[in-house]
Amino acid sequence: MGRCKAEFSGCPRGGYFQTVWLDHPLRTTNVYIFIPMRYLLEWSLLQPKQIAELRLYGMVRHLLDLRMKRRDIDERKRIDFERKYMTRRFMADGIEAVAEVGSLIWITLQIISRSQPIGQFIYVQQVVSRTMGGASGFVTQLSTIDEDIANLFDYEEFMQLSERSGGTKRISSVPEEIVFDDVSFHYHTREDVDVLKNISLTIKRNQHIAIVGENGAGKSTFIKLLGGLYHPTKGHVLLDGVDVIEYNISDWHKLLAVLQQDFIQYGFATAQDNVLFGNVEKSDPGMLAKSIEDAEAKAFTDKLPKKLDTYINNWMEDDEVNKGIDLSGGQWQRLALARNFYRDAPVIILDEPTSAIDALAEARIFDRLFKEKDKTIITISHRLTTVEKADVIYMFEDGAIVESGTHQSLTNKKGKYYKMFKAQLRDSDKKEDTK
Ligand SMILES: Nc1ncnc2c1ncn2[C@@H]1O[C@H](COP(=O)(O)OP(=O)(O)OP(=O)(O)O)[C@@H](O)[C@H]1O
Ligand SMILES: [Mg+2]
Repeated sequence: MGRCKAEFSGCPRGGYFQTVWLDHPLRTTNVYIFIPMRYLLEWSLLQPKQIAELRLYGMVRHLLDLRMKRRDIDERKRIDFERKYMTRRFMADGIEAVAEVGSLIWITLQIISRSQPIGQFIYVQQVVSRTMGGASGFVTQLSTIDEDIANLFDYEEFMQLSERSGGTKRISSVPEEIVFDDVSFHYHTREDVDVLKNISLTIKRNQHIAIVGENGAGKSTFIKLLGGLYHPTKGHVLLDGVDVIEYNISDWHKLLAVLQQDFIQYGFATAQDNVLFGNVEKSDPGMLAKSIEDAEAKAFTDKLPKKLDTYINNWMEDDEVNKGIDLSGGQWQRLALARNFYRDAPVIILDEPTSAIDALAEARIFDRLFKEKDKTIITISHRLTTVEKADVIYMFEDGAIVESGTHQSLTNKKGKYYKMFKAQLRDSDKKEDTK
């Protein structure tokens, strides 16, 4: 929670509002503005592209509870403040009205006794209209507050509604097989275009899978269907022979650690919380440290002013006035990867998890990851050094699987996979030659 340096109607004493430091390449200023932390939190909740990760990680309830706490504090303070403010203003308006009406009577008597010219009546009119204006402003203020209170209850009721939870079947163990059975899919915004076309594949438990293909081939969509975020428009996604639709979706999500291409950057939280949000149901310092190391995030988090307790957004400031630090794209990606590892789920899904991370770090991350023989790993990547480590590679083109097999078999085939990675293959051959 940040400090409150100034007083205005939205900033009650006690500092419930996060201090914001304006920092722009062209202009840096020490003028503080105040944004309630919950606004940043709400921003995370309302980004359409982030909803998938929030649902997959079971974060929606956690963030709503967090927001609810913040909102209750913020709104009650605000309403209390406005009530107090209005009483004072009402008193001021009252005194003003009495004075103005008094002078109105006095002027009228003066006109009657011919001590004042009749033109003074205009003045009288102005006084009356000003008094009426003040009174109507007061009524408007009152109704706004009533509306605010009513909205608060509506919002609370809305938040109590349960989320769509899928079927009722419970998942008691990690599925031995994930099967895509002749799956086709189109987004409802473009019903005429099948983004996935007749996809059939089987992923065995603990297998390491790589998905490759050009931009727009349907790789991320495939992951979304696997996570049950969308359902096929034709065919089935089966877990041990049972359609994923029939399962309680939260049970399935608990077995998954999905790092999406559009992963969330929790700008209102510390570096540590960004990792812990991988599983809000546990607190495991050992796992936290290991996840950060495995994601190659330790080197930079150690250099942060307050290490893991640093806010990673320079709009934030902690109680001791330590300003938050902005991260680079690759650093954010490492934290998101650490969040995925912290989840410690049996099925890991990574959608271009290291696209902003340098090649050497990526190689180390995947060497470690692929050593895990008791986890199913499905990764989307454009880097040969990662893809070649997988047990099976599926190549997507225009929504369909056009080739599949091991790196060796696909290279020998000299087909589409070979063509796609030809340049990177040459690079790796050169490296081999110079060894
Ligand atoms: N939410 C959406 N609504 C409508 N169409 C979408 C949506 N998301 C993706 N698409 C479309 O679906 C197709 C496949 O997109 P997808 O994101 O699955 O591709 P991708 O293989 O992951 O690409 P990239 O390598 O660029 O990440 C694209 O043509 C894209 O325009
Ligand atoms: Mg994608």
